[in-house]
Amino acid sequence: MKREEIVVPEGEIARQRDFQKKIRTMFQSRGAHPLARVETFGCQQNVADGQRLMGMLEEMGFAFTEDAGEANLVLLNTCAIREHAEQRVFGNLGILTHSKKENPEQVIVLCGCMAQEERVAKRVRESYRHVDLVFGPQALWRFPELLWQVYETKKRVFSIADEHGGIAEGLPVVRERGVKAWVSIMYGCNNFCSYCIVPYVRGRERSRESAAVLAEVRELVEAGYKDITLLGQNVNSYGNDLDTGYHFPDLLEDIDKIPGDYWVRFMSSHPKDATPRLFDVMAKCPHVAEQLHLPFQSGNDRVLGEMNRRYTRGTYLELIHYARSVMPGLVVTSDVIIGFPGETEAEAMDTVSLVEEVGFDALFTFIYSPRPGTKAAELPDPVPREEKQKWFDHLLEVQNARSAEIHAGYVGKTVRVLVDGESEDGDYPLSSRTEGNRLVRLKGDKSLIGRFLDVKITGSNTWALYGEAV
Ligand code: SAH
Ligand code: SF4
Ligand code: F3S
Repeated sequence: MKREEIVVPEGEIARQRDFQKKIRTMFQSRGAHPLARVETFGCQQNVADGQRLMGMLEEMGFAFTEDAGEANLVLLNTCAIREHAEQRVFGNLGILTHSKKENPEQVIVLCGCMAQEERVAKRVRESYRHVDLVFGPQALWRFPELLWQVYETKKRVFSIADEHGGIAEGLPVVRERGVKAWVSIMYGCNNFCSYCIVPYVRGRERSRESAAVLAEVRELVEAGYKDITLLGQNVNSYGNDLDTGYHFPDLLEDIDKIPGDYWVRFMSSHPKDATPRLFDVMAKCPHVAEQLHLPFQSGNDRVLGEMNRRYTRGTYLELIHYARSVMPGLVVTSDVIIGFPGETEAEAMDTVSLVEEVGFDALFTFIYSPRPGTKAAELPDPVPREEKQKWFDHLLEVQNARSAEIHAGYVGKTVRVLVDGESEDGDYPLSSRTEGNRLVRLKGDKSLIGRFLDVKITGSNTWALYGEAV
């Protein structure tokens, strides 16, 4: 598709602003102060989307509540990545029949990745008749218009056409107060890893203009945000669709020039598109955190092939080796899937051995979950769940021991952290993060939140470090 067709015209965005105003006026004329309950599931991209949806709701005159019972509108911004994620949402939808019975005027909205699945939309249409509005991620910017339709027609509205997806700039946003902010730099995914639903629900890869990204980061830094994460399903293919020869390392270099005291990080990176130049740029740019989330999924080349990942164990290890050669203190994390259809025990143990060989600081581990509509869901999957669970538990044991060992290596050292909030631990009431994004629980006073500090690490376990300001 041509760029002009992808970028949502300013006139369309202005039209959506008009619908926001109409809804606001409707509530004002009734003397109502509407409340919305917004719940987001899934990844940071979805969290970032949720903040835009809240921005639009705020413009429509809504304030926010945690209590679905008192809400005039309940919005579930959903995730489809694993079956469990979907079950949770159906559970929540079921519970909402009660609040709707008590308050028939309540509007229930289902959006996000699950909403884009035909199978889900069909089930909601037939069996969850209390849901008023269903739309997928590509229709997010049209939320005001869709909601207006619900209020005006009093009918159910579904907007779930399979779309390439656009880029909508200038949408309002409600961010968390504090020090962390998310910035989507691109949307969609073209990779079609055989197990993954994302390309089917988030449309094709499309990159925001660098000028728009730079302006947003500058604004965030000026507003006092200090830990900014750039988001994309595969940030390493940023710019490929722009045909300007401007790629992700160029964007990082330009962001790094923005003055201020802040860290910028990014996720996720696909190993097939990670380059030595990316690591060189990370190493030389002081604002770019020396932290890398590089999902490898499997340590076995046959399984990687079946997953359509387009790299090998060997090339993955070379990337890590190079990255560490230019950034000796690099914190590395990854995602892993155990029990891909047809994976043998020996192949799963190749994944464990890769984990041992690399020595990840932390790992996000998943048991394969079949997603209807993906290629892998069609493959024979003879290994019983209990067997996969055993491999998975072994992997966790190996990783937990390694995380604990790496964390123990911090004890006695002084590291720079950003204090980002309170912790639930009474003895260490503050939570903070290292440049590598490791959690440090701190002794100290709330007034330190938002500050960079040098802290001495005094203790550790598998999950966290403990420290005191020096
Ligand atoms: N775009 C990111 C991944 C987003 S999904 C990337 O490619 O790195 C986050 C993680 O969920 C994936 O890395 C994968 O490990 C896991 N995942 C995706 N689909 C899955 C499935 N069907 N079953 C189990 N885990 C899955
Ligand atoms: Fe899914 Fe692969 Fe795209 Fe990541 S790169 S979102 S795992 S298809
Ligand atoms: Fe889930 Fe969609 Fe993110 S499927 S992991 S919310 S892209």
